[in-house]
Amino acid sequence: MTATSTPPSKALANLDSLYSQIASPLPPVQFTGAAGARYNMGAGQPDPESLPKMELIETLEGIFSGPDGNAALMYGDAAGFIGLREVLTAKLKRWEGIDTNPAELLIVNGSNHGLAIVAQAFLNVGDTAICEAPTFMGGLRPLRQLQAKTHGIALDDDGMRIDLLESKLKELEDAGTPAKLVYTIPNFHNPAGVNLSLARRHRLAELADLHNFVILEDDAYGELRFSGDRIPAVYTMATPGRVVRSATLSKILSAGMRVGYLLAPEPVIARLNAMKLDGGASPFTNRLAAGYYARHGDGHVTSLIDVYRRKRDALVNGLEAAFAEIPHLKPVWRVPNGGFFLWMRLPEGIDPVRVAKEAGDRGVAYVGGPAFFPDGSGREYVRLAWSMLSEADLASAAHEIAASIRAAAAA
Ligand SMILES: Cc1ncc(COP(=O)(O)O)c(C=O)c1O
Repeated sequence: MTATSTPPSKALANLDSLYSQIASPLPPVQFTGAAGARYNMGAGQPDPESLPKMELIETLEGIFSGPDGNAALMYGDAAGFIGLREVLTAKLKRWEGIDTNPAELLIVNGSNHGLAIVAQAFLNVGDTAICEAPTFMGGLRPLRQLQAKTHGIALDDDGMRIDLLESKLKELEDAGTPAKLVYTIPNFHNPAGVNLSLARRHRLAELADLHNFVILEDDAYGELRFSGDRIPAVYTMATPGRVVRSATLSKILSAGMRVGYLLAPEPVIARLNAMKLDGGASPFTNRLAAGYYARHGDGHVTSLIDVYRRKRDALVNGLEAAFAEIPHLKPVWRVPNGGFFLWMRLPEGIDPVRVAKEAGDRGVAYVGGPAFFPDGSGREYVRLAWSMLSEADLASAAHEIAASIRAAAAA
């Protein structure tokens, strides 16, 4: 450095002023949870034991030794490998009764990417958006990045309170700041575990027309239903173009592959594709996912349903047993019929920070409530992911959680 060059601190301050669009930079994405914890219940990671490594190796060998081998390692269609879009089109029909075609699908690098593209497409900086409270933090990120004025709508056993949504929509319209986007997680909600009821789905679809907003329907866990009947997607009951539906292979194949997909009418997909600034979907992972899913997908998902049902039961049974000894300290939870998460409210008067500290000392990592609320409230809640741990570890973790709450109560 010469004597006349700008000192590093000044240079950084100058640089900061260039980042004018983002008032305060968001922290980096953190989806691994506390990776070092003995009982990592922090992240919505798939079950490590169920990752189909051998089948993926075979699929890859087939790709590289076949006529499409080179294409997997070249640039490809930004919208995603057509073969994958065909496989997903057929899967949507089989699993969800959705009639579509490959032109209505956009492959994205995980559904987080899809959520961001949709938010960027429909919201300008400072626009108004609505989400559930609580909601998935990866859905909140793009809204924060866009500095959207984000309003949270409470949930109950039937998902988002549509009566509260309706009054909020009117209130925002009256204030001259109508909501442009409503983000919802209708199946096995992350973090709350609930499903949006059929009647509420219909009403949500109607409200989108009445109040002129777009619904971002985020279905990351829909296939992983342990019991009960499938509830049709909002996508199937709304005016075409009112809903962009997001889904992913992260929970049913591999989170590391980073393959998600958006579903919308073709002109909407074309515009969303144009929002991609990253070089497009990976020809490599797209072919791997397509080849694997075409041969093994449905059978694998069916086996995963059983795996995750047993994990849920291990956690819930473990908690029931552990809190039987201290019923006055038992948190409140609903038992979800699918997905990855148990959402619980700590008993009143217990310090959540103390519980987290006690849990950490016992090797248990989870995510505290405030991460899931647009206004940072919800400190009395805890989200436990059962997806990654073995059944035996879930039982042990349940006892450690009860011990942590007992210790926090005694402190
Ligand atoms: C509700 C919801 N949406 C989207 C995602 C993102 O998944 P991915 O980006 O891996 O597809 C997750 C992952 O935890 C999720 O829980």
